[in-house]
Amino acid sequence: MEVIPSRRLTAVKPYIFSEIALWRKAAEAKGLEVIDLGRGGPDLGPYGEAVEELAVTAADPAKYSYTPYTGSPELLVAIVRWFSRRFSVDIAGDDVALLPGSKGGLSRLNLALADPHDTVILPDPAFPSYASAAAVAGLEVYRLELKSELGWHPDLAGIPEEVAERARFILLNYPNNPTGSVTTESLLTELVSWARRTRTLVVYDNAYQFVTYDGNEPLSILSVPGAEEVAVEFHTFSKVYGMAGVRIAFAAGHSQAIAALKKIEVFYQAGIFAPSLAAATVALNEGDAAVADAVAVYLDRRETVSALLDGMGWQHEKPGGATYFWLKLPGGKGEDVAFCRGLLETTGVVLTPGSAFGEAGRGYVRLSLTQPRERLERALELIGKYSGERE
Ligand SMILES: Cc1ncc(COP(=O)(O)O)c(C=O)c1O
Repeated sequence: MEVIPSRRLTAVKPYIFSEIALWRKAAEAKGLEVIDLGRGGPDLGPYGEAVEELAVTAADPAKYSYTPYTGSPELLVAIVRWFSRRFSVDIAGDDVALLPGSKGGLSRLNLALADPHDTVILPDPAFPSYASAAAVAGLEVYRLELKSELGWHPDLAGIPEEVAERARFILLNYPNNPTGSVTTESLLTELVSWARRTRTLVVYDNAYQFVTYDGNEPLSILSVPGAEEVAVEFHTFSKVYGMAGVRIAFAAGHSQAIAALKKIEVFYQAGIFAPSLAAATVALNEGDAAVADAVAVYLDRRETVSALLDGMGWQHEKPGGATYFWLKLPGGKGEDVAFCRGLLETTGVVLTPGSAFGEAGRGYVRLSLTQPRERLERALELIGKYSGERE
């Protein structure tokens, strides 16, 4: 019997990461040592106290039942306090949705807020899951190209009024994956007033929260006055708390948007594992210093990589936040997919081709700072050699 996937699934381009896995196999088969600067997951390990809490809770047989969709009162209180302490934002516990990871939550938000053929405004380049989730939901995407000359910020004035009028939401993410750009208070204020004027919901993915450098303040869009009337913000424990495998995240903000998200989550999830809820609570209540330490490590790695790129003659911008360098391939180095494939199969170094992040990523590669300094140094040496030999 032949099983035919749905039209909605056929509409989605295969994830480039599955292709990269094949190149990686080829490299391993040749006996090359793989240095993975492609992955976005942090390598610094989880926040220690959260692990202890998780272990203690997981040892209790009573913690293995379904949990309420609302999570635990302790975690909701921790989220409300954390928003207040870290971002001076007052939110109501009711306006928070707990999620088994933000990737799934952001994806299901499409189903909660838009019907097939509705329009959503998505940035390009961007975390690839935004576009694939919109395609699965049957939505039309208005591609908002982020440009280097605007610091990878959106040109809101360039969005046609009729697009803004019909769009169900605009999705933005800062500190940005893949460009490493950060936002500013004035940009967020402009975004909120644009949203109010055009009556467009802003979905703000703040996955890299505190990973900012050079005095750039970590910012929440919800700190802009009136933002809760036009915005929802997503946070995850995956990045700065090093808990990607725990699968826990949350969204907060606009009451009706959060209520719609909670409603759809009930159909797709069955509560979050109690030890995960407990670990997340400890991370928010006690993890500030560990987060600062993690950011200091990424800053040190950023400096190392930038100096090595200078030495190779690769022009680049230092990321203002997040854990990525977004590098334009120097002229004559071929297109990004061929470059990354050749690099991996020849040297064992994994970079992500820019086109994985959208049309606007062609000719770029993303280098992730999620390896210790010595491995970054070795990888950069290999990249320099490979790239030199291609000239
Ligand atoms: C911008 C962005 N948003 C969301 C996610 C997904 O995070 P989570 O682990 O919470 O699903 C990622 C993961 O790489 C990301 O880069």
